[in-house]
Amino acid sequence: MRRNLLATAVLLGLALLQIGCSTARRGEALGMPVALGTPAEARGQQVFMQHCQQCHPGGAGGLGPALNDKPLPGFMIRLQVRNGLGAMPAFSERQIAPAELDDLIAYLKALRRAGRDA
Ligand code: HEC
Repeated sequence: MRRNLLATAVLLGLALLQIGCSTARRGEALGMPVALGTPAEARGQQVFMQHCQQCHPGGAGGLGPALNDKPLPGFMIRLQVRNGLGAMPAFSERQIAPAELDDLIAYLKALRRAGRDA
């Protein structure tokens, strides 16, 4: 009787250990809060790193204001990028192609999503 109880306890312990191990999120990059789900978002990140990162580091505020903390509609971002404002330069279609701007906006939306989840 006692033996059975002990065996049950051990089995229960092993089962719990199994559950614990299988739900541990191993191999996930830590300190990489932005989950880039789509190829467009990944391409947008490249455009961002090239043209925007220096003033909006990681989508947060730097020389320019934070972009990841407010629901900026796509057309507002387009307007801002194409025309510039104050200290922010304008970017022509030669610098950022229309398709790249689409990707960039997808990336900025991913950044905002990540900010909201955090
Ligand atoms: C040289 C620095 C600089 C670069 C490069 C830059 N920005 Fe800006 N950005 C600014 C500044 C400064 C402002 C604030 C302008 C103002 O309101 O006078 C701003 C504002 C913005 C805004 C409006 C934010 C708001 O709260 O209204 C958006 C959107 C934006 N930038 C997106 C971008 C994107 C996308 C890129 C890359 C293509 C970029 N910026 C590159 C400096 C920069």
